[in-house]
Amino acid sequence: MAVIEEGSIILSNIVASQIKSHQRFGGVVPEVASRHHVEEMTLCIEEALKTAQVVPAELTAVAVTQGPGLVGALLIGVAAAKAFAWAHQLPLIPVNHMAGHIYAARFVEPLTFPLMALLVSGGHTELVYMAEDGSFEIIGETRDDAAGEAYDKVGRVLGLRYPSGKEIDQLAHQGEDTYAFPRAMIHEDNFDFSFSGLKSSFINLVHNAQQREEELVLENLAASFQASVVDVLVAKTIRACKNYPVKQLIVAGGVAANQGLRSGLHEAVAKSLPDVQLIFPPFALCGDNAAMIGAAAHVELRKKHFAQMDLNANPSLVFPNKVQA
Ligand code: KG4
Ligand code: ZN
Repeated sequence: MAVIEEGSIILSNIVASQIKSHQRFGGVVPEVASRHHVEEMTLCIEEALKTAQVVPAELTAVAVTQGPGLVGALLIGVAAAKAFAWAHQLPLIPVNHMAGHIYAARFVEPLTFPLMALLVSGGHTELVYMAEDGSFEIIGETRDDAAGEAYDKVGRVLGLRYPSGKEIDQLAHQGEDTYAFPRAMIHEDNFDFSFSGLKSSFINLVHNAQQREEELVLENLAASFQASVVDVLVAKTIRACKNYPVKQLIVAGGVAANQGLRSGLHEAVAKSLPDVQLIFPPFALCGDNAAMIGAAAHVELRKKHFAQMDLNANPSLVFPNKVQA
């Protein structure tokens, strides 16, 4: 739950992390996630209002994630938002979760169109071209695993705790790219990605070494894996930006916190796209949070795109690619 002013000022942003309970199971268990949402919802609403020092009567609208995501968790959010909006007679604004990730960049800089967004999270890896506010065109995406998912699966093989992206990132900085992992589709003339081949070759390497009782250097494994992911993400993103008339490049989603990706893109943009402004949201706003949903909702608020009380969660919600008036 977050309270946002003018779409770009955070008055409060409360994140109820579920990581501890997901770690016990090595991943997100949908039913456990739903229960957490129920338990935390009212506490978070109260905490967000208290921290922001506002009362419901001072609010202009209520925004809620409609999808995509786990249906149970989405339903609880939508029900709570509807009840809150109804009780306080406020308009209700449905927001696409992935749009929220992109709009997190508004807390750093105003968005300047046209722009390209690289969305890299646990469930998505997409290049999204935005001609203007509210218009999203997916020009490339993963054909199998998402980038964050690859980090988490590889981490599991190494016995790391879920989610393991951050830990692999840290290990990578202590090692070197010594194991030659594939860079899938890097030279192909499209904007799509594939990470399952990298995941398989990583797992094979580890299993073969275990069978032969050979020692592998953990830091070098992490560095080699990360180099493969970053090389492909950087190459495809730069190619996409060269093919579209973009003014900004926004990197968003949990994997946007990755240090290797940050430095790789900074270097590549400075070298090949000096006129493009590269924006990473602050670390705290890369992962899932409510402030980013408020930032995206502000655009809809100006257009008065409100939902009725029959709004329903949509676990497979896609981007609207045509701007509605
Ligand atoms: O956006 P997010 O918080 O949740 C989804 O909507 O998926 O992204 C979570 C993903 C996880 O897969 C996690 O391992 C990854 O982001 N992640 C990272 C880093 N920090 C989080 N991956 C690589 N490097 C990081 N520093
Ligand atoms: Zn997310």
